[in-house]
Amino acid sequence: MSTNVKRTYGSKRGSTFRSKSSLIPSSPVSDESSPKRKRVLQEHSNLTDDNLQPTPKRARTLSRAKENKKEIKKQKTLTQLHFCIDQTTLRSCTRCGLSYTKGAPDDESLHRTQCLRIQKGMEWGREEDKEMAKCNVLQVASGIRLKDKKKGRIICFKADVGGKIGSKLTALLETINLTLSSPPLTPEILRDSKAYLFLLPSSTPSGREKIAGCIIAQRISTAMAIASPAECEAVVQSSCSSDTHTQSTALIAVDTGAGLFCHPTPLPTPMGISRLFVPSTHRRQGIARHLLSAAAATFIHGCPLDPRKGEVAFTQPTGDGSAVMMDWGGGGVRIYEE
Ligand SMILES: CC(C)(COP(=O)(O)OP(=O)(O)OC[C@H]1O[C@@H](n2cnc3c(N)ncnc32)[C@H](O)[C@@H]1OP(=O)(O)O)[C@@H](O)C(=O)NCCC(=O)NCCS
Repeated sequence: MSTNVKRTYGSKRGSTFRSKSSLIPSSPVSDESSPKRKRVLQEHSNLTDDNLQPTPKRARTLSRAKENKKEIKKQKTLTQLHFCIDQTTLRSCTRCGLSYTKGAPDDESLHRTQCLRIQKGMEWGREEDKEMAKCNVLQVASGIRLKDKKKGRIICFKADVGGKIGSKLTALLETINLTLSSPPLTPEILRDSKAYLFLLPSSTPSGREKIAGCIIAQRISTAMAIASPAECEAVVQSSCSSDTHTQSTALIAVDTGAGLFCHPTPLPTPMGISRLFVPSTHRRQGIARHLLSAAAATFIHGCPLDPRKGEVAFTQPTGDGSAVMMDWGGGGVRIYEE
């Protein structure tokens, strides 16, 4: 057979939606599962007869066999399956942290796109620049100097914005949600939120800026105060001993691995950070810190917020998120449920 046959788990998975012609496997199959093949075998036994004139039934069978051959020729290239039962096909990328199925074209191509975005960030194109005035995009800071001496600017807009800027934010949030394994933000949350983007000038001839960081700041009403290091330590100690856990029942665990707990009392808090992301090649330059400060200063017009006074909260933070939260907010940042 001249057809180049390759197969994947992906092609197998999607087979329900394919035409019969694309289902012809590269390896022999049982007669039970392939009625067409069974007909061809019947046709061979008929050809041993002395009378070689095809009967009407045989003529029908031959024409079907010809059709099958045509269909096989038309069949597009598939990918060869590798059965290796002692090795998993699930790969975990060390550069972006995402897991994907090796050999599944859809999975591999999705991984390639997202991996690049997680490492280098997306571009802020000329189309988005043109729509800035129409979408009420504000530049809230400029000439911000990073540790590597590069200078960038911060823009802000409503998170439920439409048009090209809305599409760009949707794509960016898709990458962020994948990185954080978070669900998509609901339309209600987006309506009550502002997006802050850190833009760096392009280093390529395209002249397009890079989105080197993003936070979504949400209007909230209450959040919980983080327990002091001494209180967190006491909980950890009490859970190790067989004493009654009076202290631990009074506190809520945020991240037991990191020993982070908070007090259950809801306290009035105006701003929550629901998403925080910096592409890996731009980290530890101070971008997250600058974005958070810009949001605290401008989220409520004419009313700058102070994280050290408990006026800013994070949703359940990651390890890196906790480090930024503690560094930027000095222990005053609160925790809220998204
Ligand atoms: C968390 C994240 C946004 C931090 O962005 P960043 O731009 O690298 O952070 P900054 O450079 O502003 O860091 C500010 C301070 O936070 C602390 N910090 C940040 N990342 C840290 C890390 N990985 N380990 C230890 N401390 C860290 C440091 O004190 C740092 O100051 P320093 O660099 O002068 O020591 C980024 O690592 C990221 O996108 N991670 C993946 C997504 C994620 O986990 N988001 C958090 C959701 S809550």
